[in-house]
Amino acid sequence: MARGWWRDAVLYQIYVRSFADGNGDGVGDLPGVLDRLPHVRDLGADAIWLNPFYRSPMADGGYDVADPRDVDPLFGTLDDADRVFERAHDLGLKVVVDIVPNHTSHRHTWFVAALAAGPGSAQRARFLFRDGRGPGGAEPPNNWLSQFGGPAWTRITEPDGSPGQWYLHLYAPEQPDLNWRNLEVRCEYLSILRFWLDRGVDGFRVDVAHGLVKALGLPDVPAGVPQGWEGRLGHPLPYWDQPEVHDVYRTWRRLLDSYADPDARIGVAEAWGPQGDRLAAYTRPDELHQAFNFPYLTAGWDAARLRAVIDDTLATAATVDAPPTWVLSNHDVVRPVTRFGGGRGGLDRARAAVLLELALPGSAYLYQGEELGLPEVEDLPAELREDPVFVRSGGALPGRDGCRVPIPWAGQSPPFAFSTHSRAWLPQPEAWAGLTVEAQRREAASTLALYRAALRIRREHPALGSGPATHRLDWHEQGVPAGVLAFAREPGFVCAVNLTGGAVRVPPYGALLLSSGPVDPVDGDRVVLPADTAAWWSTGG
Ligand code: NOJ
Repeated sequence: MARGWWRDAVLYQIYVRSFADGNGDGVGDLPGVLDRLPHVRDLGADAIWLNPFYRSPMADGGYDVADPRDVDPLFGTLDDADRVFERAHDLGLKVVVDIVPNHTSHRHTWFVAALAAGPGSAQRARFLFRDGRGPGGAEPPNNWLSQFGGPAWTRITEPDGSPGQWYLHLYAPEQPDLNWRNLEVRCEYLSILRFWLDRGVDGFRVDVAHGLVKALGLPDVPAGVPQGWEGRLGHPLPYWDQPEVHDVYRTWRRLLDSYADPDARIGVAEAWGPQGDRLAAYTRPDELHQAFNFPYLTAGWDAARLRAVIDDTLATAATVDAPPTWVLSNHDVVRPVTRFGGGRGGLDRARAAVLLELALPGSAYLYQGEELGLPEVEDLPAELREDPVFVRSGGALPGRDGCRVPIPWAGQSPPFAFSTHSRAWLPQPEAWAGLTVEAQRREAASTLALYRAALRIRREHPALGSGPATHRLDWHEQGVPAGVLAFAREPGFVCAVNLTGGAVRVPPYGALLLSSGPVDPVDGDRVVLPADTAAWWSTGG
């Protein structure tokens, strides 16, 4: 069986806009990434995943792509992208880029042509245009809702000035959905994949991977079934997880495998809806290589839920021989420090959570700033917020800007060497002076130091990463209080995490390798693990 690099890789997500600014306009860009790549190498990650840097009017932070074969001037040039790929490779880092196949931008030449060409045209057939319902076609074609609020349909004006057809957009109106039952669409995406593979990328993170193909006839969602941003997990909907979507990935896999080393180029599914076997189906041996584990991300700080998700993940990943993956954060969710309660307690839990994550078998995703213990920025002024989730809900939903605030690199005041401009595109809190990379490099007990140590041990210890058993760990129950997750991995490794809310005593497992907070030996035969603390031991076995 082939064992690719991705099976136990730690991938570091770079949200380009907020990582580092190379041209002094206050917005992160590819030259900035180039400059700061050594940070990722020093951290000990194996790969970077770059969020979209393609030409885009930025109605959804670049997930509205107007030209998928070019770099937006905001982020640099194609040459800059090539330089980033090359430098990353020189530093020993693989490169994964985003691909956005569910929708384009409304400024994409295909959509502009579709508007001009009129009903029934080949240009419209690339998207999902339909006549409206009711008198004069004034009602949307069905009851689907946009993930960003409101109906998933927008009515256009035909070229002759008359009220026209409607087009589907599961996200913002600036993001028209493509028609994946159309052959031209399928061919176009194979060509886009080739374009970036030929430039040397090692893989793709597939945006909305479960949404491409819609149920035939675009049927209404039954009354009472939740849709939209809140209803993302667990409900069957006619626009998510349709069986035909898997044909797309089978074709993509053949293309990926046709590149020089057949186990080297990967696809990663971003699929918020499907769980268990339905999620694992995206990573069957002839489909994509990995899928983000969102059930893990959403399990909270709860021992029973985490254990259930871990067991389910290991079992279902084994059925398709895919590596399990683990993720705590990304550019779409509230940062873990804040999700886990905020303040010192939230930070303690986030630090413990990453030791749990990195001890599990398989591959892990880290989001920039997580290694600094950054909290969500919750008090961003409304006029600076850009996320369509915030804008389209009229401010009712906070949206995702708070986890996208630029990285503090160095210095005592904003923008903390993120940019030479006086301000970053989203303001960083003054209090981040203590959280800069520079400050945390100097401090042995910093979150950055914890991440670096964890990644170093993970690389060196034979039980960690995939280890000899990719789909297995052995839970310890004996002498372990309820609310503590403790497990062994062979050879010679134990991880224990205290989620009880109070200090507990656990067996002395061996030599302490690393802990997220202080761990004290007592009486020689028990060890005190404080609340919200995780520790790794070498058991010498
Ligand atoms: C998932 C991306 O991560 C998110 O940022 C984006 O808004 C949606 N897909 C739509 O592309």
